[in-house]
Amino acid sequence: MHNPCRICGGTVKGSIDLGRHPRGNAFPRPGETADEFFYRLVVGMCDVCTMVQLLEDIPQEVRYHDEYPYHASGSAIHRRHFEEIAQGFLDTELTGPDPFAVEIGSNDGVMLARIARAGVRHLGVEPSRQVAEMSRAKGVRVLPEFFDEGTAERIRAEHGPADVMFGANVIAHISHLASVLRGAALLLARTGVFVFEEPYLGSVVEKTAFDILYDEHSFVFSVRAIQAAAERFGLELVDARLMEIHGGSMRYTLAPAGARPVSPRVGELLEKEAAQGLGEHATLEEFARRARTVRDDLTALVRDLHAQGKRIVGYGAPAKITTVTNYCGIGPDLIPFVCDSTPSKQGRLVAGTHIPVRAPEAFSADHPDYALLFAWNHAEEIMAKEREFAERGGRWILYVPDVHIV
Ligand code: TYD
Ligand code: ZN
Repeated sequence: MHNPCRICGGTVKGSIDLGRHPRGNAFPRPGETADEFFYRLVVGMCDVCTMVQLLEDIPQEVRYHDEYPYHASGSAIHRRHFEEIAQGFLDTELTGPDPFAVEIGSNDGVMLARIARAGVRHLGVEPSRQVAEMSRAKGVRVLPEFFDEGTAERIRAEHGPADVMFGANVIAHISHLASVLRGAALLLARTGVFVFEEPYLGSVVEKTAFDILYDEHSFVFSVRAIQAAAERFGLELVDARLMEIHGGSMRYTLAPAGARPVSPRVGELLEKEAAQGLGEHATLEEFARRARTVRDDLTALVRDLHAQGKRIVGYGAPAKITTVTNYCGIGPDLIPFVCDSTPSKQGRLVAGTHIPVRAPEAFSADHPDYALLFAWNHAEEIMAKEREFAERGGRWILYVPDVHIV
């Protein structure tokens, strides 16, 4: 399978083929599974600009529907993280006479609410209706649209240039990334910054985190590919920092080309990426082999425990669960349910495998023998919350970076 690169037109060769999958965040209701949407989950790298991307493109209207169930403020650690980011912007970037901040994919307003409380001009650009409503309730101003060049032009005409543009776990979701970067170049003030944080290819490869691959992740960014993409559209990568949130995200800072000094961290990270072989097809092919090993090990373990009469329940229903359970063929016969704290996911099913999602009380009311941790990037918070489970002899099953029991 080959495709033209969405950024530069080079050739993308499919190196990782995980087979047919439904949408990661579909979470159908029971009885609504007859016409589930499936696509072929194949990921590859551009042989010119090294951008890692999905080969098949799922229309964004299909993905970010009005009932889009993901809530950015669903974890205490994430809430703190976004409040710190907002405070950082208020302290360092939003200090001029009448500053203006724009967030792409502002979700439930967890970041912008802090900026709104400080009385700073802001605008969230968020097409999913329910989460947009949640942010309005927090005093956040929202434009219910997809961000692209045209939106950028209209925002600039109405509000003037942006001192800060921000996006978290959203920029890598946008298949028209080229138009987003053109829009950022249009909307940013000469002294402005475009900051975004997204799952990092280096961490994904290091952890064999193949479950980060699903329909919404049109791209998996690396420092090298973002530097090249920025350059094509009159922007410059001036800083990059690795963070542990979401199991390994990189925070990129772009500025208009030549406007800011470039941090030495950028060069250091580029060297590390070269040493890790991140720009090579062979690295992705090796990753695909390791993903198959994780699948075989996890399937064998779960089947074996099930055969021994052990009760296994899933913990957390992130979008990632759709990739893992579909790729491994794990359904309600092996895992009767998975619990998740997001109300809008409860009572729904994991797409494709149809494992029911229930409230966390279902877990604490009747502890299983084993809990398969799908929200592994929240391991610390969840294990602390569910200490009683382990104290009573329950065991956690993890599959990142390999299958193990703790
Ligand atoms: P997350 O990893 O943030 O997102 P993604 O869908 O992008 O992979 O999802 C974590 C899920 O785990 C989310 O549905 C909420 C759930 N969760 C719990 O059920 N309990 C918890 O204590 C935490 C922290 C998360
Ligand atoms: Zn390319």
